[in-house]
Amino acid sequence: MKSRRALLYVPGDDLYKIQKAATLGVDSVCLDLEDAVAPNRKELARLTVRDALGSLDFGSTEVLVRINSFYESSLASEDLHTVLPAHPHGIVLPKVESSEPLLWVEDFITDAEKETGLPAGCTATLAMIETARGVLNLGRIASAGSCLQALVFGGEDFLTDIGAQRTVERMEVFHTRSEIILHAAAYELQAIDMITVDFHDIETLQREVAQSAQMGFSGKQVIHPAQIQTVQAAFTPSDEEIAWAKGIVAAFDEYQRQGRGVFALEGRLVELPHIRAAQRILARARP
Ligand code: COA
Ligand code: MG
Repeated sequence: MKSRRALLYVPGDDLYKIQKAATLGVDSVCLDLEDAVAPNRKELARLTVRDALGSLDFGSTEVLVRINSFYESSLASEDLHTVLPAHPHGIVLPKVESSEPLLWVEDFITDAEKETGLPAGCTATLAMIETARGVLNLGRIASAGSCLQALVFGGEDFLTDIGAQRTVERMEVFHTRSEIILHAAAYELQAIDMITVDFHDIETLQREVAQSAQMGFSGKQVIHPAQIQTVQAAFTPSDEEIAWAKGIVAAFDEYQRQGRGVFALEGRLVELPHIRAAQRILARARP
């Protein structure tokens, strides 16, 4: 699965920013047709995104498109009809509250892949969880369809939906963020954390993204180029972590040959969970 340490939103009607996003070395860009676009510019945004997909070179950056909500399905189906033939790598679905929107989008994807001769199953879906109902139905959402790769926490909409106020400590979203990580782990999906709104405040961003990584998120949404480097670094293992992981894996291979499942390394017990953690670090070292 494509590594998505940072997922950068770009308004779909802003060609200048889309062109800029293609040069930033970010893991994923998400060209937005939903809330970053005013209602009277939806059609312009669709066409801009379609043309950008067809003409710009994004290098190794993945290009996703966020469509309008399934619950406003005339907008959403127009979005899909316009952008899918231009082959985005994936579709981000906002405000998902059940399995239904994911299955609905998958039908569009299957048809578009057939019509344009793409191999089946190569367009991903990512589900945004940003309402109380979405959180309550996480189990059904996380197991829906065969294209789903990530659960994305839409913190801003969620705060409004539950009537909470944002605090520095972020206790008001801690439970929900944990639920998203738990469901992502259970269904082998990525978990992508909420944005940090103040893009000038890199200190706060550093603190928040360090916590995201510690909690088990695999990436974070960003809204401004200034946030990319800090976020991608936080989800990249340090040289010390990589050295530790390589040491553990090498020692494990040696002890396995000797027929020993558990062993001690530098005075600490090493068991299979530690080996798996080391393997995960090494996998993340190669995004
Ligand atoms: N993607 C690509 N380029 C971006 C960008 C983005 N999301 N945000 C800013 N830039 C570019 C600007 O065009 C500017 O380019 P320049 O130096 O070549 O002129 C540079 O980065 C610095 O931008 P800055 O002037 O600090 O910000 P701004 O006032 O132009 O834009 C926002 C501020 C918040 C409007 C902008 O960051 C943005 O549109 N973010 C995405 C919002 C979004 O999509 N929200 C929906 C999902 S939450
Ligand atoms: Mg939202």
